[in-house]
Amino acid sequence: MNASLVAQVKSGFIDRFKTEPLLIFSPGRINIIGEHTDYNDGFVFPAAVNKGIVAAFQKNDSNSCQVYAINKHETIAFSLDNIQLLDKEHWGNYVLGVIAEIQKKGKKIEAGFNIVFGGDIPGGAGMSSSAALENSIVFGLNTLFNLGFTRQEMIFISQRAEHNYVGVKCGIMDQYASMFGIKNNALLLDCRTVESDPFEIDFKDHELILINTNVKHSLSDSAYNDRRSVCESVASMLNIMALRDATEVDLLSIKDEVSEENYQKALYVIQENERVVEASKAIQNNNITALGNLIYDSHHGLKTQYKVSCDELDFLVDQAKLNGHVAGARMMGGGFGGCTINLVAKKASKSFQETVSKAYKNRFNKACSIYAIELSNGTGIIP
Ligand code: GLA
Repeated sequence: MNASLVAQVKSGFIDRFKTEPLLIFSPGRINIIGEHTDYNDGFVFPAAVNKGIVAAFQKNDSNSCQVYAINKHETIAFSLDNIQLLDKEHWGNYVLGVIAEIQKKGKKIEAGFNIVFGGDIPGGAGMSSSAALENSIVFGLNTLFNLGFTRQEMIFISQRAEHNYVGVKCGIMDQYASMFGIKNNALLLDCRTVESDPFEIDFKDHELILINTNVKHSLSDSAYNDRRSVCESVASMLNIMALRDATEVDLLSIKDEVSEENYQKALYVIQENERVVEASKAIQNNNITALGNLIYDSHHGLKTQYKVSCDELDFLVDQAKLNGHVAGARMMGGGFGGCTINLVAKKASKSFQETVSKAYKNRFNKACSIYAIELSNGTGIIP
């Protein structure tokens, strides 16, 4: 966690509201493999990271609430008995959505409150700054008002806020990883049971780095929702609950009834789900080559079958492939921009980073950003 961010949020709160706040850290996440499998009840392999949202909370003695976003220099003010959505894309909808979902659960927030928050995940990086924000809000209010929600209940509140108030029909991976992260571990999460097995991540002479394209293409939210509905319609044609239950042979049986595009999307999900299970075995055996190949295959599927990549992401993955020291690379998160995740030999990491940065700048006339990552604990109180 970023100590200067904590100090900034804390002093920002005290300056504004003249009282000591409760401080919460809620992390973003990476995902080693398993993309677009979560809303198909499948497997994913995320980990919480040491970047995320720091939020400060305190009750006030009025009926109204104020939330100040440090990064945006913006405040929203509202009353708890009249939660109104803001314009689409406004960050405030994540906060208001969580509050509205808490209220829908029949829990009463008994007083007004103030919040100041800031983050160190760039928006659109595919590192779940939204889930980190949602979780920080639900966790902070749960603590402040003793609402009695479990962590499991809180992630579903966060997810519903995103479905109903932001309009993205996301799966549960991001909220889960952010809430339940374990330091130095990735979580093999079964999105049907919503239970995970931790895997300690120590790749010995390899490391994970993220490379941010610094682009986010528009329409990504509608493209996301469209893909989710394709998956659901193929699952219903197969008479199963979710694509997690299908094999490639099952899918073949309805090949004539679906378009080639949709067939490939469903096939991608079935194959990606298998790759996650294979990846967990490769990690257990510290088989870097096998893991790296699965990661490259995942990208290939996301690009050619699921069609959620973009030129900038493909370029970064191609650069990784050109370098003999990168075992695997792929786009991470929902797609259409954001980061690639790269499994790189430590000894060659610096030179790869230099080469790829130059090449990216030459090709797109803009800079990419590179992040080293540490795997961290999930959402919690900052002591
Ligand atoms: C976004 C969503 C997740 C997941 C990924 C793709 O991050 O919020 O639920 O579907 O995309 O794997």
